[in-house]
Formats: sequence, C-alpha cells, structure tokens
Amino acid sequence: GREGRGHTWAKAILLGEHAVVYGHPAVAVPLHDLRMNATATPINGPSRLRCLDYEGPLTGSGARFDCVAQAFEAAREFAGCPRQSFIITTRSDFPHERGLGSSAAAAGAIIRAVLDACRRPACAEELFALTQRAEAVAHGRPSGLDAAATCAPGPLRFQAGEMRPVSQRIEGAHLVLADSGVHGSTRQAVTGLRERYEEQTEAVGPLIAELGALARLAVTALEDGDAPRLGTAMDRAHEVLAALGLSLPVLESLTGAARQAGALGAKLTGGGLGGCVIALADGPQPAERIGSALLHAGAAAVWTHRMHTSEAGQ
Ligand code: MEV
Repeated sequence: GREGRGHTWAKAILLGEHAVVYGHPAVAVPLHDLRMNATATPINGPSRLRCLDYEGPLTGSGARFDCVAQAFEAAREFAGCPRQSFIITTRSDFPHERGLGSSAAAAGAIIRAVLDACRRPACAEELFALTQRAEAVAHGRPSGLDAAATCAPGPLRFQAGEMRPVSQRIEGAHLVLADSGVHGSTRQAVTGLRERYEEQTEAVGPLIAELGALARLAVTALEDGDAPRLGTAMDRAHEVLAALGLSLPVLESLTGAARQAGALGAKLTGGGLGGCVIALADGPQPAERIGSALLHAGAAAVWTHRMHTSEAGQ
C-alpha cells in the first residue's frame, strides 16, 4: 500500500461560540498558517499513532485519543478497508485544548490521509459527516462549527448545520490570538452552560440569543468592511460570555491588555474557561503591538493572522 496524506487548519471563532449549540449563528475563520498534517502509512500488525508527545497503539489509549481513534475507524470503514492497519502520524503547528479546533482538525486530517491511502475520493459533505461522527463520540453533541471551520477556504457563517462563506471586506484586518496556557475543556464548558440554561432559562436564554445577534452583526460588519463595528461586537460578546460564567481571571487580563494596546475588540474564543483569546487589529503594526502586550501580560504563545479580503463564492 502507499502512504496517504491529509491536512486541515486551526480555526478561530470570531463570534457565536456556545450560541451555535442552541441553534443561533456563529462566524469562524480558518487559520491557514496553522496547519494540522496527517499521514497514513499501511503496515502489518496493529495500527499505531504517532504524535508530538505520544507513540503507541491507536485504539484503547485513553480518552484523549477517542476522537482520533473514531476518525480512523470511520475513515477505514468508509474507504472499504476496515481491516487494513496503518501508522497514523499527526503533526500540528498549534496546541490542543486551547479552543483552536485541534480535535476536529486532527480528525479531519486523519480522515483525509486514510481516504488518500485507500484512494477513496469523498466530497465535502461526506468529509464533514465523517469528522462530525468522530467529534460526536468524543465530545457529546458538537454543533459542527469546528468540523466545518477547520477545512474551510475562508470565513464562514454556520447555523444549525448549514454553512455559507462570508465575504471579508475589512482592509488590513489582523487577528491576534493568545494562548492563556490554561487547558479549556469544551465539553465541560458546554455541559456547565447547559445546566445553567436549564436552571435559569429566563436569565440565560436572552444572553445566549444576544450572542447569536452579535454573530449576525459580525457577518454584516465583515461584509461591509466595518472593523470598528466588528470590534465592538467582539467586546460585547466577551462581556456576555463572562456573564455566562465562561471567562477566567487570566482571560480578563489578556483581553484587557489587548484593548489597552489598541485592539478594536477582544474576547475569549472557543469553549472558554481557558484556551485562547482573540483580538482584532486594524493593521500589521497594531497587531504587533497587541501581540507584545499579550506576551507581556503572560500569554503562553501568540499568533498573528492576516485576514485577507475575500469574496464569498469565488
Ligand atoms: C467550540 O469550539 C465551540 C462551541 O460552540 C461548541 C460547539 O460549537 O460545539 C463552544
């Protein structure tokens, strides 16, 4: 057999995390300079996994690898080679459990690598469904936002399983991402919010709906090329996410440092309770200033992403 390859990217949620779980829209951006690569090499004997800090059997290696193992099984089955063994190698430019979509990215990359090795073509919908299946086993009921965003060609709007590309017309926009260094469990954050929603629907429901409304506003701000409006929506979304109990002191100090350094807006991104913050800058120099300020404020790592302008559907 021959080696197969696949790749995906990290993603950042601009607006709408958590709200998207309740059927509201969200907007996410693939980070094309933070790649997840996977290879699938046919071998004899039991399948193995090799990543940065693990090498060993692919199945039965604990909860951390549930999603990866599920992706692998789903892909083998779909490709019609359920008994072929592989060494799966993943290599990524970004950390896991920081709200950057690493589990969906790893699942997507492995699925593509296995299908490539088995010469089994698949369309975008099939790849999405396979990735969702893997994510669902490991994470309960993911909205699908991560599965969609980690392989998207550009910014996208996602709602109730429907996705569409969003035109990005803000000239010179940069996203600055900072890792708080704290592991955030998306599953825990989603479950905790669900409990609060069920106990206090009247208080929590409107806040979740507001996050959805802010995501709609972000779509039009991107399409209109209106950076200040997008920044204001991000700031407000962070307040709402904090009111929902999803922030931490470290996320407050990082978003505060970004705003002080001139960010047009800053918020936590992804599940929260750790993970990353995201800040909007209106040019490369402001982005650099904000990045330094975030490192100074204690960020474990900082990435700057230039948001190229794009026309949806081209
Ligand atoms: C996690 O990246 C995004 C959440 O909205 C969960 C989900 O969409 O399934 C918090």
